[in-house]
Amino acid sequence: MKKGNNWDDHYTKRAKEENWLARSVYKLEEIDRKHRLIKNGARVMDLGCYPGSWSQYVLEKVGKNGEVIGLDIEIPQKISAPNFRFIRGNALNIDMEALFQEAGEIDLLLSDMAPNTTGNNITDCARSLELAGRALDIAVRLLRKEHDFLCKVFEGEDFKYFKERVSEYFGQVRLIRPLAVRKRSREIYLLGIKRL
Ligand SMILES: C[S@@+](CC[C@H](N)C(=O)[O-])C[C@H]1O[C@@H](n2cnc3c(N)ncnc32)[C@H](O)[C@@H]1O
Repeated sequence: MKKGNNWDDHYTKRAKEENWLARSVYKLEEIDRKHRLIKNGARVMDLGCYPGSWSQYVLEKVGKNGEVIGLDIEIPQKISAPNFRFIRGNALNIDMEALFQEAGEIDLLLSDMAPNTTGNNITDCARSLELAGRALDIAVRLLRKEHDFLCKVFEGEDFKYFKERVSEYFGQVRLIRPLAVRKRSREIYLLGIKRL
């Protein structure tokens, strides 16, 4: 398989064939296969859940006794499961205590949030870092001790400061660039293992 556009098409086509709502699922699947993040029965929050492929995948992995709480500005209309709860909101200005009251404590926080890109790298990276910073704030408030945090970030100048901030709250930090990330993309996933 050639890399570049053909590779992107490969994932898009495969996602359609396998009934996933987006090709992004293969990024989470790869990370989960390696790090075993998603456990049966877990309560998982999925920030930036629309259109829903990560939530689809997590619902399968947590099973009937688990729960997925998705949050996005857009409504993921194609997901319906009794153990899927959706909160419509903007992570950047959502009230943290109200979110905690609604969602409660969670076992895993995932964030695949991404800004609308402008094509200007500096702006796009800054907006992505703002979203990632907010995802970390939510993790710090809602995540149970010893549990994990996975977050997408565009790797730019100030990325290292974000990584340092994550290390203050997690026992280990890993950087992961899954195969399904588009070759031209600056996105990388940061995994915080075991909330301190
Ligand atoms: C790459 S998509 C996520 C794809 C998703 N993981 C999936 O597998 O279907 C990024 C999402 O982040 C959401 N998003 C961006 N900014 C947000 C914000 N401030 N609050 C909540 N969601 C946001 C977008 O609406 C978009 O749906």
